[in-house]
Amino acid sequence: MEVVIVETDREAAVIAADAISRLFRENPSAVLGIATGSSPLGIYDELGRRVTGGELSLADARAFMLDEYVGLPEDHPERYRNVVARDFVAKVDIDRANVHGPDGLAKDVPQACASYEQQIRDAGGIDLQILGLGTDGHIAFNEPGSSLGSRTRIKMLTSQTRSDNARFFDDQVDAVPQHCLTQGLGTISECRHALVVATGRHKAQAVHQVVEGPVTAMWPGSVLQLHPHATIIVDRPAASRL
Ligand code: GLP
Repeated sequence: MEVVIVETDREAAVIAADAISRLFRENPSAVLGIATGSSPLGIYDELGRRVTGGELSLADARAFMLDEYVGLPEDHPERYRNVVARDFVAKVDIDRANVHGPDGLAKDVPQACASYEQQIRDAGGIDLQILGLGTDGHIAFNEPGSSLGSRTRIKMLTSQTRSDNARFFDDQVDAVPQHCLTQGLGTISECRHALVVATGRHKAQAVHQVVEGPVTAMWPGSVLQLHPHATIIVDRPAASRL
């Protein structure tokens, strides 16, 4: 795994946006994997600046989300599809119809998961996947114990993740859904470039385990040690246990 240590969040965002810009210069219809959480926000802002400045266009891009809460109503502001619409789609020139995510309101969950996998395959796979890292080492919503070969499926969130994410639900842990649909570790591992951003001291233990620990389902992000092209961008506090 390539580790890039930066001084500021802004530097992390610029390095990630450079990689994404390069990809879309080479192939305007490339497939971008997008993540939620606070870690990618700076990247989306930087991509927005470049699109507004005419240096970059995502007009022909296709994008796939990593995960979605189960059961949040269509208009719920924290439904990941809505978060992505606000934090990413609204800032760039991507066609909303080309942004895909797992259906957290599906009646037939296994079928919805299988059809999401098929959509990713039909698009030719993910060229560059943006990832954040949970404090428990999760990527997407693959919590500790997730099979390294897992595919898109329903998962139960750990209480740690629900309390980490309560800040998006007026600090009400009970308002955070218990279940989610998430691309599996096997699904994510098939992307051509995995780009993780993790900043802040609260990520230091996860960064240490994921980068230097054994490859284990107990620290799901460690699966990226097996990936031929994985980059993790960290600031000094997040790198403090390396
Ligand atoms: C959530 C998301 C993950 C994200 C993680 C870290 O649980 N499902 O995709 O990477 O949290 O979030 P943050 O970047 O806000 O620390």
